[in-house]
Amino acid sequence: MKRLIVVSFVLLLFTPTTSFSYPNGTLFYVTDAAPFCASCHSAAKAEYTPELPPEFAKKETPEMKHYGLVRMPAPPSPYMELTDEQKETVIKTAKMIDANSSVTITAPLRAKANDEIKVVVKAKGGNGPVIGIMLVDRALRFQSRPITSEGWAIAGEPEVKGQDGKTQKTWLDRRIKGSKRNLNFILVEGQKFDIEKNVYPAGEVTFTLKSPSQAGTYNLTAAFLYGTENAGTAGFFQRPSGRILFSDELSIHVE
Ligand code: HEC
Repeated sequence: MKRLIVVSFVLLLFTPTTSFSYPNGTLFYVTDAAPFCASCHSAAKAEYTPELPPEFAKKETPEMKHYGLVRMPAPPSPYMELTDEQKETVIKTAKMIDANSSVTITAPLRAKANDEIKVVVKAKGGNGPVIGIMLVDRALRFQSRPITSEGWAIAGEPEVKGQDGKTQKTWLDRRIKGSKRNLNFILVEGQKFDIEKNVYPAGEVTFTLKSPSQAGTYNLTAAFLYGTENAGTAGFFQRPSGRILFSDELSIHVE
C-alpha cells in the first residue's frame, strides 16, 4: 500500500497538469515576453530565422517539425499510439487551422517623439482554450524583442477584447496586486473552437504606446501564438503542434 502511494505520487509529479501546462497556454508567465520562449512551437515561415542556415530554418516549419514527427514511425515520436488514419486527421486538422489563422497590426506610420499612438492587433485562429499575442519589434522568431526594448513605452494596460467582442481583464487580473499592468504579452482567454462550424478563437488587443524620444525609424510587429491539436494524450507536451505566426512588420517614422 505504502509503495502504491509512493508510486502514485511520483507518477503525479510527472503528469502535466492540463490547465497550467504549456499546451493550453502559459498561464503563469504574466509578464513581458518574446516568441523565443516558444521553442516547441513550429514557425509558420522559414523567413522568421534568417540568421540560421536555410536547412535549419526549414526544419522549424510545420511541414517538417510538426507533420514530420506525426508521420515518424519510430521513437521519439510522441504520436506512436496513433493509427495512420488518425495521424492524417491530425495533419489535416492542423492544416485547416493554419489556413484559418491570421494576425494583423495597425498603427499610424508617423508619430512625433514622446507622443502617444494606438496600436491595434487582431488575431484569429488556433484551437483555444487561449491564444497569445505579443507586441514586438520584428518578425524574428529568436531575436525579436518586446517593444519596450526599442525605446517605446507601453502607456497603461492594454485593452483586451475576447472572441465575443467583449472587454476582458482575466489575464491582467492575474498580475500581483499593485504591480504594473502595461504588458506586451497578453493571453486572450475563454476561446471556443469548433472546426465543423467554422468557429475559431479570436481576440483584439489595443496598446497605447508612447513613442521613443529619439527621431528615427522603428519597427512594430505582432506575434501570434496558438495551438492546432488540443489532444489530451500522453506525450502531448512534447508535440510541436503549437505555432508562431507574425503580422506584417510596420515601419514607424518618429520625428
Ligand atoms: C515544452 C514545449 C513548449 C514550450 C517551451 C512552449 N509551448 Fe506553447 N504550446 C506547446 C504546445 C504543444 C501547444 C499546442 C497545443 C495544441 O496543439 O493545441 C502550445 C500552445 C500554446 C498556446 C495556445 C494555447 C493552446 O493550447 O493551443 C499559447 C498561447 C502558447 N503555447 C504560448 C506559449 C508561450 C508564451 C511560450 C513561452 C513562454 C510557450 N508557449 C512555450 C508547447 C510549448
